[in-house]
Amino acid sequence: MTAHDKFFQEKQAAAVLKHGILKRYPDVFTAKTGSAALAGKVVYLDGFAGPGRYKPEEGQAEGAEGSPLLAVRTATKAGAFHRTLHCVFVERDPEYFENLSETLAREAPQDMVYEVLQGDVNQHLDAVLDLARDSPLLAFLDPFGTGLPYTEMTDRLLRQPKWPATEVLLNFNLQSVWRIGGLLDADKANATSPALADAFLDEEWLPVGTGCGGRASGAGFQSADASLARIDAFLGDDWWREVFRTARRQAEGQGERAAAASAAWKVAQVYCQRIEKDTGYRAFPVPIRREPGQAPLFMMILFYRYAGAPYVFNEAASKANEDWRKFTNERSLRQPPATAEPEDLFGGTLVSEMVAEQNARTEAKLNQSWIDVIATNITEFVLTRGSAGVQDHTEALYGATLGLAREMHLREAWDQLAGRGVVRPRLKGKGNKIENQTIVPT
Ligand SMILES: C[S@@+](CC[C@H](N)C(=O)[O-])C[C@H]1O[C@@H](n2cnc3c(N)ncnc32)[C@H](O)[C@@H]1O
Repeated sequence: MTAHDKFFQEKQAAAVLKHGILKRYPDVFTAKTGSAALAGKVVYLDGFAGPGRYKPEEGQAEGAEGSPLLAVRTATKAGAFHRTLHCVFVERDPEYFENLSETLAREAPQDMVYEVLQGDVNQHLDAVLDLARDSPLLAFLDPFGTGLPYTEMTDRLLRQPKWPATEVLLNFNLQSVWRIGGLLDADKANATSPALADAFLDEEWLPVGTGCGGRASGAGFQSADASLARIDAFLGDDWWREVFRTARRQAEGQGERAAAASAAWKVAQVYCQRIEKDTGYRAFPVPIRREPGQAPLFMMILFYRYAGAPYVFNEAASKANEDWRKFTNERSLRQPPATAEPEDLFGGTLVSEMVAEQNARTEAKLNQSWIDVIATNITEFVLTRGSAGVQDHTEALYGATLGLAREMHLREAWDQLAGRGVVRPRLKGKGNKIENQTIVPT
């Protein structure tokens, strides 16, 4: 079984968060941008689509939905509010392409407008941009390793005109940067990717080594030079090498893996800053971890220009993070720690209930701490800067809770501060959306 096959074998925690965002944000993008679009048409590109469904897990009749099937759901919902989501799915691996075509033929509604294209997403970019010439475009890029070359991102996808709106959701693979970054060491200069894969062996997947072409290219591992060149093209030159080396040196005391992970994180941050500078787009990154407290494996980044995008994207990210916490909690239920009491003493049900209660307590504590942080942020903002338009200052109001907390927490914090006379109460009732309001000091 290749690493890529393993990836589609069982849905992993990282995919839960990624798909949690995909279940929500494309719906909002389609609804909002489609209202002003010609005939309500919005284009959605899934540039690294995969086979459509994961392999079924033991005891399940069918596998979890992959990103293309989530797009089918979005397209179906869009139809109900007079939008047409034209989906383009691109998959390079011939076998996954076949699977995907069959899955969509079977599961997509008859009237859904979509195409499945085989090959490199780069080759199909012109056709997609042409299709979206007069329509908003949301592109989801989810490579195993490196994504679109930098200039394709900046000069073609993140195109200049403000309308029609274009946004890109990139699942930046930190793990591949930290592993390929390992090739920068003199003593690893002759290493091939499999050797490196052993050094950082990770069961989430092995993006390096088999290339991005799946099984078809699985036989040939890339040389160190080829891997480094791929990253150079993706990140837009070799600037990242010095950033990686410096950040890794600074984190040396944390151990090799943690230092490499933190160096990859730094590289991703600088990548976002460079895109922002070169295109005028802004970046909203959401870290994706396998376990709470672990280094992120991915960074799901929204590149956007519309000022209201962070508020609605944050709602999606927060709910997706909640899905992820539930998933990791249930997984810990399925695999109780070695120290758990034997089942015949307490019974499986009692153990499940205890874990569920523990989870509920943790969630309640998280909610409370987020409300407190947001209340502090609001107070500081209004005291130092005056009124705060919610949509315009989403990042400042959520602060460290961005991507975790959402409107329900902001609302509670606002109400508490209004109760204490720090700010004016918000307008309540239907039609008074919080995102359109301004927090005003008393
Ligand atoms: C991480 S998987 C996609 C998972 C999928 N987006 C999901 O969430 O269900 C990446 C996919 O991209 C395909 N791929 C790799 N390089 C590609 C390229 N240059 N163009 C198009 N597809 C590519 C791989 O074969 C693989 O199926």
